[in-house]
Amino acid sequence: MKKKVFVCRRIPEPALKRLESEVDLTVWPSELPPSRSDLLQHVRGCEGILSLLSDRMDAEVFDAAGPQLRVVSNYAVGFNNVDVREARTRGIKVGNTPGVLTEATADIAAGLILATARRFPESIDQVKRLEWKTWDPLGLLGLDLRSATLGIIGMGRIGMALAKRMHYGWDMKILYTARSDKPDAESLLNAKRVDLETLLRTADIVSLHADYNPSTHHLINSTTLALMKTRAILINTARGGLVDQQALYEAIKREIIWGAGLDVTDPEPLPADSALRELPRCVILPHIGSATVETRQAMADIAVNNLIAGIHGRPLSHEVTT
Ligand code: DGY
Repeated sequence: MKKKVFVCRRIPEPALKRLESEVDLTVWPSELPPSRSDLLQHVRGCEGILSLLSDRMDAEVFDAAGPQLRVVSNYAVGFNNVDVREARTRGIKVGNTPGVLTEATADIAAGLILATARRFPESIDQVKRLEWKTWDPLGLLGLDLRSATLGIIGMGRIGMALAKRMHYGWDMKILYTARSDKPDAESLLNAKRVDLETLLRTADIVSLHADYNPSTHHLINSTTLALMKTRAILINTARGGLVDQQALYEAIKREIIWGAGLDVTDPEPLPADSALRELPRCVILPHIGSATVETRQAMADIAVNNLIAGIHGRPLSHEVTT
């Protein structure tokens, strides 16, 4: 008998088709995530769940699924939506999709740096609203990026990919924080590992690439923002919860920093009444870091491989072990 699997949203084919041929598959059909009660109902009796970052996977879901649940395959590299410890105590494996979204996400971080420093949204709006009157010597002045100092908080794969782009392309100096030295970054990019305070005080651009967990919640807050340069830019392509958004709003509004480029917010989507929307120098994208055709297909392949391996009790090619 085929094993029962629930997939929390449509993911790219052919990975989905492959899954369909191997398991007793239910795919949540809507563009929006299943409600909590729909999720709890649909996981019942499943041996595997393919979840997205918007689906909280915790004891309640594992209970609803039942003791035969063997694997939660998360369609993301980040796994802060999964209670990994709880899964481990129940012998449920957790998979993720590292590696394949590194370059696409670093591209979005680089794009946000340019868009924020050179004021793309205001410029685009000016053209669209027919407010472009003439070439203006004092209009829409931004910041030079050449030879700026880029501070990477969390020098993992994506941080490194961004640092390469900005070092080789814009001749930027690279500072980073990490749990350990990164010899590749130091030898290839002449990057220097520093403490958080030094990075915040020195960098012209601060880009967040740290894991999001209780210890990094609101890592960027009114105190840390106050350390940054008045012409500094904050970039976040990791998780919205790393930043205290109210503090960020105040910091941009009161010109404590220049601006921010965010591909992630907390919550997602950003609520209609979020004050951040009002700020011209806060560039906000709808979490599109990994949104390329090739990347999403590669993520789907890994997630499906993890799921199939997990339901058959085999090792996952990419298992979350922390
Ligand atoms: C991830 O994989 O964690 C990303 O945020 C999704 O693009």
